[in-house]
Amino acid sequence: MRKIILAGNWKMHKNQAESLEFVQAFKPEIDNTDESREIVLCAPFTSLTVMSKNLHGGRIKLGAQNIHWEDKGAYTGEIAGGMLAEIGVDYVIVGHSERRQYFGETDETVNFRLKAAQRHHIIPILCVGETKQQRDAGETENVIIDQLKKDLVDVDRGNLVIAYEPIWAIGTGDTCDANEANRVIGIIRQQLDNKDVTIQYGGSVKPDNIDEIMAQPEIDGALVGGASLDPISFARIVNYQ
Ligand code: 13P
Repeated sequence: MRKIILAGNWKMHKNQAESLEFVQAFKPEIDNTDESREIVLCAPFTSLTVMSKNLHGGRIKLGAQNIHWEDKGAYTGEIAGGMLAEIGVDYVIVGHSERRQYFGETDETVNFRLKAAQRHHIIPILCVGETKQQRDAGETENVIIDQLKKDLVDVDRGNLVIAYEPIWAIGTGDTCDANEANRVIGIIRQQLDNKDVTIQYGGSVKPDNIDEIMAQPEIDGALVGGASLDPISFARIVNYQ
């Protein structure tokens, strides 16, 4: 059975007070949300501890936005898996296009980070996606298949979430057509032996397009940036019809 996972990626937004304010406003909005829907908030590192305490015992899962592949060492500015696991982090985003684009993340380091997450029993959310230029050149399928092949070397397909995030759709309001997202996610699924991997769509997901996105048979959830920053907006996404 494929699990439905709705995850918010707060990126570099919200300090501790703002994170808690969100949680307080968000919780009552999901009182009647079907238990089969997994809800995840991927917060900045500085908010994780206080959120973990607040979310303990509840249904909202906690996610981080990066993880280093070594368990400790001289890696200034990085966070180790054990540090995240200790405070109860359940998920971690790996290989987001912003990490690849602005911070030199490569398929090799993405692969190391995926394996580190699994070693610490944290479920990685692997992001893949093509640029506008690659899409226009008809390279979408090849780019995605190549990313998957390199990123997933020796990665356990039983403890993994994949997010298809076309780069041109991130933060632009230019959502990928739901049918097209469904088609690419179908191609991603074909590359996996485990057909139960949850595959999300990400890129300008909003309250007004989530219903159509979730109606697609291959799409098992969403990874939401901007629209996850507001509790009412993210609640509407989680409570898609
Ligand atoms: P937006 O929802 O703001 O387009 O961001 C998507 C994203 O990058 C989620 O990881």
